[in-house]
Amino acid sequence: MNKPDCSSKPSGSVSRRNFLKTIGTTAVAGAAAQAESIAAELQKVDAEKIQGPGPVPITLTVNGKKHDLELEPRVTLLDALRNFLNSTGAKEVCDRGTCGACTVLIDGKPVYACMQLAIESQGCSITTVEALAQGNRLSKIQQAFIEEDALMCGYCTPGFLMSATALLQRQPKPTADDVRHACAGNVCRCGTHPRVLKAILKTAGVEITQKTEVIRYADLA
Ligand code: FES
Ligand code: FES
Repeated sequence: MNKPDCSSKPSGSVSRRNFLKTIGTTAVAGAAAQAESIAAELQKVDAEKIQGPGPVPITLTVNGKKHDLELEPRVTLLDALRNFLNSTGAKEVCDRGTCGACTVLIDGKPVYACMQLAIESQGCSITTVEALAQGNRLSKIQQAFIEEDALMCGYCTPGFLMSATALLQRQPKPTADDVRHACAGNVCRCGTHPRVLKAILKTAGVEITQKTEVIRYADLA
């Protein structure tokens, strides 16, 4: 999954400092002038206010709506959504970036919400599975999951739906391999992968052959 680049991160971001330090190490070996400018930038970052460890004001834009919160900087986006915004569509399963059940879209790209801090999600547009249906009307992809029986316990389903939504937005006519690739970060322990594949291709109006549905054991080896 991609790490989003939220444009208006709060000042004092730890990741920015570490990033600069990493570049600095490389640059010193390569170009002294570049290293100097990075050192100056590091000084500037050091002078910026450190956030936390107590709660700090954080603004998140979720499904088009702004939310002002007071959260500790260590709170993940997933916990902010589930525990502070009552948005429980994204599921907490592994909580360590391995299953994809927590997938949300950040600026249209699928991201594991358990691997992203809420504080670094500011300035981005966050979309959760709750935004797919319009009132009681399910989106095409949600409807296809039902028609193709592409879920059992349903814990993985919101994540698959978000990965599929992002795929179909950027590629309305994907191949079966495109779908496999887009959902490579989503795991279904109930074994619905073939039906998920079928549902996503059906939504895109892509012909499904018998061969498409076959799990390619060679790929799994
Ligand atoms: S809960 Fe985030 S990847 Fe599993
Ligand atoms: S439907 Fe149970 S984990 Fe996918």
